[in-house]
Amino acid sequence: MDDSAGDDQVKQPFLTTHHGVLYDADCLDILGRMRPEVVDTVFADPPFNLGKDYKNGYNDTVARAEYLAWCRKWILECCRILKPGGAFFLYATPELAVRFAQIMEERLKFRHWIALTMKGTYPRGNKLYPAHYALLYYTKGTPRVFNKLRLPIETCRHCGKELRDYGGHRDKMNSEGVNLTDFWVDTSPNRHKKFKVRPGVNELKMVIPERAILISTKPGDVVFDPFGGGGSTYQAAEKLHRNWIGTELYDSIHIRERLKENYSLFPAQEPRFEFEGLFTHEDKQDPVLRRIERQGVSARTVTHLS
Ligand SMILES: C[S@@+](CC[C@H](N)C(=O)[O-])C[C@H]1O[C@@H](n2cnc3c(N)ncnc32)[C@H](O)[C@@H]1O
Repeated sequence: MDDSAGDDQVKQPFLTTHHGVLYDADCLDILGRMRPEVVDTVFADPPFNLGKDYKNGYNDTVARAEYLAWCRKWILECCRILKPGGAFFLYATPELAVRFAQIMEERLKFRHWIALTMKGTYPRGNKLYPAHYALLYYTKGTPRVFNKLRLPIETCRHCGKELRDYGGHRDKMNSEGVNLTDFWVDTSPNRHKKFKVRPGVNELKMVIPERAILISTKPGDVVFDPFGGGGSTYQAAEKLHRNWIGTELYDSIHIRERLKENYSLFPAQEPRFEFEGLFTHEDKQDPVLRRIERQGVSARTVTHLS
């Protein structure tokens, strides 16, 4: 199949690995072709419409109403493709997270607002200094998988000694470490250029999607990330032996390079899971989305403005 095959055909992937399939396409195009309830976890780190230069042609400044209407579309689509019990993690600024949460509430059940410390931000106007981002965690009903994660007990980088005494209860603590909380302090991005896969993309520290995947899936489950960026979710999924579907509209080359470097990926590696089965030609969109469509908001008008 190729791009000229017509609107109802599933697009040819940009790359495939043993565990994953990446489309260089608009996430809404691919989402619209996916069957309902086929994905175990969605992880999304969208553009925030803050005027960021992604150096790939993406216009990150559109009218706020237009941006939010576009977000509503892909959020509802992601809810639709989630299996019962599936998890949806959505990374956002607190200001956007409160809006996104309202949309997710329509379909899903709240689990957590995970606060991730954010260094290197700056205060705007008469506001407090922003020091965290939100990772919203919702599930479609009761979670199908919930793995409790533990973090190793913190030690000094120099002398190796433990940093805390845990109120004198250290001896009673689990040898595998402390329970992961909803406040993550080790997730600030590396700002230095040499750590970046692609100039302009603020790729997340891999530990963020990695934890989301570990919390909510088992090996062999399917993870979907609509906003590929530098490919951190796909690398995390690959590493953890979860199957994955991804989309990146503008510049997928860097994702390929990243996966090649880390997994000696070679072109056209056959996925070991039945990814075609996730797609359909009939049930392209749910009724809510069709209604939004009729109201005249299109993803393309948002993402292709220049
Ligand atoms: C914040 S970045 C994601 C970074 C990623 N989480 C990582 O850690 O590498 C958002 C990405 O979404 C892409 N994008 C924007 N609109 C899109 C669309 N409609 N479909 C697919 N990707 C899109 C942008 O090009 C950008 O690379």
